[in-house]
Amino acid sequence: MANYKRILVTAALPYANGPVHIGHLAGCYLPADIYVRYQRAQKRDVKFVCGSDEHGVPITIRAMKEGITPQQVVDKYHALIRDSFAQMNISFDIYSRTSNQIHHQTASDFFKNLYDKGLFEEKETEQYYDETAKTFLADRYITGTCPVCANPNAYGDQCERCGSSLSPEQLINPRSTLSDATPIKKKTKHWYFPLQNYEPWLKKWILEDHKEWKNNVYGQCKSWLDNGLQPRAMTRDSKWGVKVPLPDAEGKVLYVWFDAPIGYISATKELTEQWADYWCKEDTKLVHFIGKDNIVFHAIIFPAMLKAHGDFVLPDNVPANEFLNIEGEKVSTSRNWAVWVHEYIKDFPGCEDVLRYVLCANAPETKDNDFTWKDFQDRNNSELVAIFGNFVNRAMVLMHKLCGGKVPVLHPSLLDESDKTLVKEIELTKSKIESGLEQYKFRDALFEVIDLARKGNKYLQDKEPWKKASAIEKLADKSSPEAKILQQEIDNCLHICLQLTANLAIFINPFLPDTAKKMLHLLKVVEKMLDWQNAGSMKLLSAGYSLRAPELLFRKIEDEEIKLQVEKLKNNMVKPVSNEPQATTKEPEAQASNLKTEIVFDDFAKIDLKVGTILSAEKVEKADKLLKLEVDMGFEKRTIVSGIALHFKPEEIVGKQVVVVANLAPRKMRGIESNGMILMAEDKEGKLHFVNPSEKINEGAGVN
Ligand code: MF3
Ligand code: ZN
Repeated sequence: MANYKRILVTAALPYANGPVHIGHLAGCYLPADIYVRYQRAQKRDVKFVCGSDEHGVPITIRAMKEGITPQQVVDKYHALIRDSFAQMNISFDIYSRTSNQIHHQTASDFFKNLYDKGLFEEKETEQYYDETAKTFLADRYITGTCPVCANPNAYGDQCERCGSSLSPEQLINPRSTLSDATPIKKKTKHWYFPLQNYEPWLKKWILEDHKEWKNNVYGQCKSWLDNGLQPRAMTRDSKWGVKVPLPDAEGKVLYVWFDAPIGYISATKELTEQWADYWCKEDTKLVHFIGKDNIVFHAIIFPAMLKAHGDFVLPDNVPANEFLNIEGEKVSTSRNWAVWVHEYIKDFPGCEDVLRYVLCANAPETKDNDFTWKDFQDRNNSELVAIFGNFVNRAMVLMHKLCGGKVPVLHPSLLDESDKTLVKEIELTKSKIESGLEQYKFRDALFEVIDLARKGNKYLQDKEPWKKASAIEKLADKSSPEAKILQQEIDNCLHICLQLTANLAIFINPFLPDTAKKMLHLLKVVEKMLDWQNAGSMKLLSAGYSLRAPELLFRKIEDEEIKLQVEKLKNNMVKPVSNEPQATTKEPEAQASNLKTEIVFDDFAKIDLKVGTILSAEKVEKADKLLKLEVDMGFEKRTIVSGIALHFKPEEIVGKQVVVVANLAPRKMRGIESNGMILMAEDKEGKLHFVNPSEKINEGAGVN
């Protein structure tokens, strides 16, 4: 925290066109909340801002389909999202929205500032226009026949069947997904931000000065920067959004990715009159928590905008998590493959902390991770219940049984090695949690808390104060010096366990705030105790203080409840209608993946692609992803090991034709030599599809 006077934490503004699911929570809201709660406990000056992202094409399309106004769409989801966050104890200082007047003004001024500096390039281009729906069409909203595989329902940016990336011009028979009309080409003018001019500066600022950013963030930035940045249109043709503040800009609004991040500034303005301290003073630490699909916008585009404007601080860090899959499959809002937060809250009332726990303990911090209901149950039952809850409960129960319901006195002269070790552990845990949280390693930090409770259990188990109590029982003279010493040892043990309990409340507080509150109640102490400066102290509870009767912190989660959830997930899953755009929930460009570096024809010509037929397939032992395939190439039979076992059963692919990279150098995988590679297309859901000829052809046929 060197040199910073205040911290401004933002969490990505969710689109107000659907509810939030647990992947959203795990991606950025929960880590941001943990970070902020910790900073607050440290008594640092911190503000936490968020709000709904209410502009963009998907919202207008949803409105059109439902026959309501965009405002009605965002009103509905803004309220739902805001309430879900509140119920999950995500403690924003403000949850605002980008349809607010203050935001329109702020975003509009920002644009005007760059415009007045002459930064934008004005360009006229031709774009597809739907005359029936009277709107320009984003690539995703145009369908037609794929020029590569003849799929009649390919999108203007990609064919989901063969995986080719397309531009709308390539589609045969293009149609608008909104009205089914044939779109026409129409001229339109837009304002482009010359991102390429910021490339040298961005390279230094990120690649040299921010090497500490998380690998996934740094890596994505590097790849964008290595590939070269392009000018970006910062305006769109639409009626919904922040109007372009220029005289000749009828029917044009700011691009949603231009206005949304400015929403962080607007929300801070709405929150406090001191907003400029947080945004304009160099000693502010600005941290953007986001999901991985937002990296380029927060690490490259928005910083370039801020830099161009000149009045604002730049982010110190952009911690982004990867995605959380559900039961082994990518979340898909269109297929309803998701665990919705508002439904979880209904199904597991009072268990908000359990979800927070599981999502943090299993957070996709470095790679995509899987949420399964079984793991949810296991972590609850064997970690929260059996370790943390169990320790606190035992300390409380034993204190009532063996120490008369009061915090016993400590007898320092009787402290032994194991007592001292445990006290040391508490201090050590404190610094481990601190460094974990400062470095955005939330899983590690949470692990330390549970591990400390585990050590508490072990300590109690080794000390066995109950045995000492029955030894006293057996003594004829209960006031003998021997009995006295035994009781003092019991007192020491429970004194330490109770101080540990109080420390655990401080440690768990950023992660599981409801649990910390329950612990305060049991210990009859005020919230002030949770201040971070109290962590590590062995004087949190004074001797002689009487505590409340024990109450369980967590309940067991039964098999039945888990079964119901898994069924609910499967039953509610919908098969998408094939010609509906799948990306209507996201602003299409949010997913724009950057192409690999350009190659020349000769590079391509080096690759020998040939059609083959799968003759047999079997699982590879001890490798759950691999299948060993026998492939008929016409001129020979080959063994190919392919990482598709999670997607296809061996029996369902026998007989399928595939395209093989036939001149790939052999490679040993799990001891089997693989001779070639099978081409697969991966859809947005992460599902694999074969890339093959539209009808069966002779093996060995070349693919060019
Ligand atoms: N609405 C975007 C999404 O859900 C995130 C916007 S973040 C902001 O992916 F910075 F632009 F606000
Ligand atoms: Zn195709």
